Amino acid sequence: MAGDPEQGVQGGNDVATVPDVLTPLNISADTPALRVMGVAKTFREKDPDTGRWRPVPAVAGLDLDVPRGEILGILGPNGSGKSTLIRLVATLLLADEGRVEVFGFDVERHRMLVRRLINRVSVEASFFKKLTAAENLAYATGLYGVPNRVAQVRAREILERLGLPAKKLIVPLEQLSRGQQQKVAIARALLTSPTLMLLDEPTTGLDPKSRREVQEFVLEVRATHDATIVISTHDMDEADRICDRVAIINAGQFAAIDRSDRLKARYGGHAGTMEQVFFTLIGEQLDEADQEEGGT
Ligand SMILES: Nc1ncnc2c1ncn2[C@@H]1O[C@H](COP(=O)(O)OP(=O)(O)OP(=O)(O)O)[C@@H](O)[C@H]1O
Ligand SMILES: [Mg+2]
Repeated sequence: MAGDPEQGVQGGNDVATVPDVLTPLNISADTPALRVMGVAKTFREKDPDTGRWRPVPAVAGLDLDVPRGEILGILGPNGSGKSTLIRLVATLLLADEGRVEVFGFDVERHRMLVRRLINRVSVEASFFKKLTAAENLAYATGLYGVPNRVAQVRAREILERLGLPAKKLIVPLEQLSRGQQQKVAIARALLTSPTLMLLDEPTTGLDPKSRREVQEFVLEVRATHDATIVISTHDMDEADRICDRVAIINAGQFAAIDRSDRLKARYGGHAGTMEQVFFTLIGEQLDEADQEEGGT
């Protein structure tokens, strides 16, 4: 583990004083990319009738180890805690209980370092929409301390591979389609190495072709970069196809974490589908028509 990894980082975004992020940190290969230990988070919201604050438990007792190089899928109903988990790992929220470590670094004690090692791509991607893709990438890389020239060359290569024409780099982001904006977000996520990519529903709202491109790209990234990927999705086939393991989360707790073939054998019923696994683990029945279709 690096001695004082944050030295020079806390002072701000002055690239000259920030250690070159491309210099490998002394992280041993068997350190998990992500460890989540007993994590709980409860929000508060105001009851509109009584005006009193009430607790909204989001996640509780989460334990998870993601080895380096893995693609882990997270499936769960709306409101089950997927985005909360991702935001806790991304240092955007503080846990009430438990610990999160990214490549062995505690997310609270080493927040700035962890921010350089993780990258979050979310459906509500945080971009400055009036700026161009190139400007956004320059801003993000300044933030993460990647030397700008290196980052720009790398970003261009990645965007070319993703099929985003170079001319699209120089128009305001708001003039790009949603799928094109997702591609810029992914390019930004790949500028650091090793990296833990946190993809919160990256394919939601994309057309089937763009969805396939993003999925293929995720697989390629894992093969060609030192990347570990945590991806939430509502697409059962996507989870089945690209993830090494799938975690099913329900009401803020993991119901199961395993390879999809094992999940299907154990919870997939006669049909042996991920959809059936999902319904079994969240404690609901597929409706009758679906069950018949599934061959029961
Ligand atoms: N900022 C917040 N304030 C209050 N409650 C919140 C906040 N963010 C999330 N929650 C609550 O925490 C719970 C988990 O929400 P979360 O966004 O993690 O779900 P999700 O699994 O990502 O859902 P979806 O599939 O709809 O994206 C929900 O009950 C939600 O209402
Ligand atoms: Mg969400």
